[in-house]
Parts: sequence; structure tokens; C-alpha cells
Amino acid sequence: MTSPLRIGVAGAGMIGRRHVDLIEASQDCLVAAIADPSDDARAFAAAHGITWYSDHRELLSQEKPDGMIVATPNALHLAVALDCIAQGVPALIEKPVTDTLVAAQRLQRAVQRSGVAVLVGHHRRHNPIIKEVREQIADGLIGQLTAVVGLWLLKKPDDYFDVAWRREPGGGPVLINLVHDIDNLRFICGEIVEVQALTSNQARGFAVEDTAALLLKFASGAIGTVTVSDATPAPWNWELASGENAAYPRQDQPCYLFAGTKGSLSVPTMQLWSYPGDSGWYAPLARTEIAAAALDPLVEQLRHFLAVIARREAPLVSVQDAMGTLAVVEAVGEAARTGTRVLPDQIMEQAA
Ligand SMILES: NC(=O)c1ccc[n+]([C@@H]2O[C@H](COP(=O)([O-])OP(=O)(O)OC[C@H]3O[C@@H](n4cnc5c(N)ncnc54)[C@H](O)[C@@H]3O)[C@@H](O)[C@H]2O)c1
Repeated sequence: MTSPLRIGVAGAGMIGRRHVDLIEASQDCLVAAIADPSDDARAFAAAHGITWYSDHRELLSQEKPDGMIVATPNALHLAVALDCIAQGVPALIEKPVTDTLVAAQRLQRAVQRSGVAVLVGHHRRHNPIIKEVREQIADGLIGQLTAVVGLWLLKKPDDYFDVAWRREPGGGPVLINLVHDIDNLRFICGEIVEVQALTSNQARGFAVEDTAALLLKFASGAIGTVTVSDATPAPWNWELASGENAAYPRQDQPCYLFAGTKGSLSVPTMQLWSYPGDSGWYAPLARTEIAAAALDPLVEQLRHFLAVIARREAPLVSVQDAMGTLAVVEAVGEAARTGTRVLPDQIMEQAA
């Protein structure tokens, strides 16, 4: 029997505490310590009987953990991750990989130079539904992918905006929420090569957008639209539709539609629509359910991270890969600002 891996957690806020709970529930790892300067985090650590540090560098030098989860605010991801790499400690960095693509390039160079394993927390890729959709589409279930519709429509509570940074550019649904959908779509459909976008702040009137509409072109030639709003009561978003996080009341509705030449698929409802016989708009359409296992992707992500630390598995989401998602998100911002078509590849080159 091998001894449990010792995992440090930098940043014990909302998501950091979920990581702590998951580590504590696992037999294969334990919480080495928490690093977070806040009084709340110190009290949380004391309540859990976990060693607390105000500074992650102290945690790294004192505890020498086997791995570190970086769940600090975005702007600190780079600094904390570079310190982990300098100590040879593999890291799981929450999404987005860094706050800017320029910062992500620095991180990527450090990963390449050091060979230290770094996994990025785009955890939805670990959801069996997303994996199944990716495989089925690659296997030709709906023929050649022609078009994709993505929706992230829901209402954030009004007091969510009591925090000043959430009312300012960068604190809105494009960087905070759309980044997940972009990552899902890249994972399932392949690279996004062209972006057009409009954003609006009409519903709330804050400096940050509350609504956005995107036009996307994929490298395969497929095209897509994604519509986002955090100011509308609606079930068509991954949180409510997938049921992967019990905090959100589940709704049996899709948030993605994938259209192909042989059929179409709604996700995560997993309904396949196709013609059993002759095809064409007068012919009867058949609806079949595609099975996918239910599994908390954060649990699977932790299992995978332990395997990455042990070098049994390569990171499912590398820094380089996560940079592709961040490049599209930055392209959305530029496309909305300039009213032009923006190529994520060019955004990536400019950041290099
Ligand atoms: N995967 C997901 O679905 C998901 C969900 C929520 C948040 N996130 C990501 O996780 C990160 C944290 O988000 P959150 O919502 O938990 O934020 P949060 O504000 O609730 O928590 C951040 C914590 O980091 C602490 N912190 C600040 N400076 C620090 C430092 N120098 N060293 C260590 N800790 C420090 C804060 O005191 C706070 O406790 C962000 O990158 C966010 O994008 C991911």
C-alpha cells in the first residue's frame, strides 16, 4: 500500500474549500496545509485541524507537499505556480490558467524548462458527459459537424454584484463563465479559428458586460453561436442543465446543440435526433437517448491530478492547451471592442 499524497491548497475561498473537502474525502491523499492570508481561511483551517500558513512560499518550504492546488484569485495564479515549479512541486491551477495570455506564456516557458507537471482546472472536461460527446462526435455519430449552438443564460443573484470587481471589466460572464463553455467547445469540436462578438451592459448598467453574443468558426469548417447573459431567469446553462454541482437546482434542459449531416445532439440532455429511414423535412425524426455516466468531475479531476503527480497520466488540460481557451476569450473581448473578426492565433502570437 502506498502512503497518501500530501496536497497543499493555496487560496481557501469558495472553490479552494471544495478542493479541501474532496481531498479530505479521498483515501489517496490528504491536505498537507492551507496557505491563505485571510482570517476566514485561518479559521477554516483551524476548524478542520489543518496547518495554516499566510504565505504559500512558507507552505512550500516547510511542508514540501507532493502537489499543490492553486485556487487564489486569477491575478495570483502565475506567481504561485512559478513558486511551485521552482520547488519542483506539481500544480493544479484553477481556471482560467492566468489572468492574461502574456502571463500564461511565462508560465508555459517555466513548465517547458522545468518539466514539472502542471494541470489546469478546466474540470468540466472530466465530466463523463463531455467526454462521451467528444468521442461520439469524433466517431461520426452525427456525421460531419456543421453547426453548434451554445447557451449560458441564467440569473446571478443581485448581491453577487456587491463586490466591486464583479461590476468592472474582467469581472463579467465572458471571462468568468464563458471561459468554461469555450473550453468545452474546443475540447469537443476542435480549435476555434475566428471570432466575432457583441457585448451589452444594458440589463444591469454596470461597466462590465452582462450579455454577449458570439459567432465562431472552427478549424474543421463548422460554425457556431454562443449567447451569454447573467441577467435572465433561464435554465439553459451548464450549471443548471448538467447537475454536476448540487448547489444549482437541476433542470432537464440542454445548453448545447450539435448539428451534423446525419443527425443532431442536445447536451447534456443527450438526445440524438436522426432519420431512421428516408431523410428530409417530411420524414419522421427519431429521438434516442445516448447514455453517459454520472460522476462529479471535481472528484475525477482530483484522481487525475494524483495520477499526474505520480507520472502515471499526462495532464488532460496542459498550460498550452488552456492558453488556447484564454486566447479565444481574449479574442471575444477584442472582437466586441473593435467590431472586427479576430483570429485567436493572432492573439496568441501577439502575447508571445
Ligand atoms: N473550476 C471552477 O468551476 C471554478 C469555480 C470558482 C472559482 N474558480 C477559480 O478559482 C479561483 C478562486 O476563485 P474563488 O471563487 O474561490 O475566489 P474566492 O475569492 O472565494 O477565494 C480566493 C481565496 O484566495 C485567497 N488569497 C488571496 N490572496 C492570496 C495569496 N496571496 N495566497 C493565498 N491565498 C490568497 C483569498 O483570501 C480567498 O480566500 C479563481 O481563479 C477562479 O476563477 C474556478
